[in-house]
Amino acid sequence: MPHASAPLSLKLCDKDIDLNFLVVLASSRSNGNTAKLSKEIAESLHAQIVDLQELSISYFDYKSRNISDDFIPLVERMVLSDFVVFATPVYWYSMSAQLKTFFDRFTDLLTVNKELGRKLRGMPISVIATGTDAELPSSFTGQFELISNYLGLVYHDPLYCCCPDEFNPQQHQQAIQGFLGKIA
Ligand SMILES: Cc1cc2nc3c(=O)[nH]c(=O)nc-3n(C[C@H](O)[C@H](O)[C@H](O)COP(=O)(O)O)c2cc1C
Repeated sequence: MPHASAPLSLKLCDKDIDLNFLVVLASSRSNGNTAKLSKEIAESLHAQIVDLQELSISYFDYKSRNISDDFIPLVERMVLSDFVVFATPVYWYSMSAQLKTFFDRFTDLLTVNKELGRKLRGMPISVIATGTDAELPSSFTGQFELISNYLGLVYHDPLYCCCPDEFNPQQHQQAIQGFLGKIA
């Protein structure tokens, strides 16, 4: 299904994949649980991680006075990918504020930068998340389904790792392999 060129071949779970993955990390900690999960996933997929903490992406502005911040360059990077994985902790039953701010800015792609927005249509995406509750709340998954539907993104099942303490990859190997097997 490659969405754009720049194919990359690697072996994963005994099958070849030729996809160019991008992980967008949206946590308040660049070395916390979600960052560690992102690293595991990115290493397996040979993907680049973009940390929103290192970018300047401001709140949606009705007057688009922020059009020169890092939002458009990140979307331009996304459209070069075949598959984008959003990584967020669960904060108050929802995605992180960083990721919500990023999605708010997608409004720019429906107004002042429609051409770039059109390039995102059909883009496969998924979500990887960490939290302390046993399961992802339906409010969390519902948001991504609705946003994907509206924007014409193809939403794949999320990976959730319940982390009562520090993220330990060994404890989530089965879930991680299951996730990778489905998207790659
Ligand atoms: C502000 C805040 C809100 C949180 N809300 C939830 C929540 O609603 N549900 C949940 O399961 N965990 C919640 N947690 C726990 C975090 O999701 C969990 O510790 C996560 O692994 C932290 O990831 P991070 O290290 O990337 O920030 C919350 C933590 C914080 C700091």
